[in-house]
Amino acid sequence: MAKTVILGIESSCDDTSAAVIADGILLSNVIASQSVHEEFGGVVPELASRAHQQNIVPVVDTALRRAGICRHDLSAIAFTRGPGLLGSLLVGTSFAKGMATGLGIPLVDVNHLHGHVLSHFVRENPDDAVPEFPYLCLLVSGGNSQLIWVKSPVDMEILGRTIDDAAGEAFDKCAKVMGLPYPGGPHIDRLAAEGDSGRFRFSKPHIPGLDYSFSGLKTSFLYTVRDGMRQNPDFVEQNRADLAASLQRTIIDILLAKLSLAVERTGARQVAIGGGVSANSGVRQAVAQFCAERGIRAFIPERKFTTDNAAMVAMAGYFKFMAGDLCGLDAVPFARVGV
Ligand code: KG4
Repeated sequence: MAKTVILGIESSCDDTSAAVIADGILLSNVIASQSVHEEFGGVVPELASRAHQQNIVPVVDTALRRAGICRHDLSAIAFTRGPGLLGSLLVGTSFAKGMATGLGIPLVDVNHLHGHVLSHFVRENPDDAVPEFPYLCLLVSGGNSQLIWVKSPVDMEILGRTIDDAAGEAFDKCAKVMGLPYPGGPHIDRLAAEGDSGRFRFSKPHIPGLDYSFSGLKTSFLYTVRDGMRQNPDFVEQNRADLAASLQRTIIDILLAKLSLAVERTGARQVAIGGGVSANSGVRQAVAQFCAERGIRAFIPERKFTTDNAAMVAMAGYFKFMAGDLCGLDAVPFARVGV
């Protein structure tokens, strides 16, 4: 019988997810995605909250059943407190509070970004390799792009962050300019595999230090498409793959330039990536190659742990629970933070 069993709940955006971790090992991870947003070209907050309300009970129930765990076996409930959409976060937070109160067990609040950073510790098998502290993490998602020095599961220092758009936003907004559905990142990834990444040149930021910027790239992409369409109305149609490959290449170059600087400054011997954009084939390959060339150990997450999931929330919650870092019933969700 496991000693410490954590139920994790994630509802920060448009995925309702629940997972069970027992003594650090993942027993189940259930995700209900919301297709209702597709026709709107982005996540509609009010629709997301309603879908979470419909999904949360069956998702939690399925996670417990798949794990073979009775709710009375739970040691604590971990939930995503933020950052994210407030209405969505409220559903998970309220549910976690109600369930923990009913069972008389503690609550653990989890920063969604810490979850992504700690997703490398989610193991289905005790022999799976995990990073050793400290390590450098490149967190790239739809809302964040950060370089984080991870000293321990509960001690992380942000070395650099985006000063405007996140890498995922650059993928999604440029994809929208090309008429691709939301979220555009996976479509760019697929198209890029068939395109010439040297065909178009887009501007790269010149900002000092370890911060990122992606808004200039977005504008430069928009101008290229606008100018191309003035000459030829079928410009996007005829150059889809090359535009996608060139965009992806530029985003990777921007990410790697600062990653390289961060490795130099920290002397990191292990580099991990996390967040939705770490599902990108080009990013995965480029980081793996970057690390191989420098004899650095790379941690590239399984694709199922790159996007929002409760396994990473349960994992981060497990670490906090073991450190005695619990939260009260007065914990309220937050929409925005650093780390
Ligand atoms: O981490 P995530 O699921 O949500 C946030 O917490 O932000 O990340 C979503 C982002 C979206 O911008 C999406 O387009 C991007 O991750 N993404 C990708 C890929 N898969 C997801 N971007 C590029 N290539 C992919 N394969």
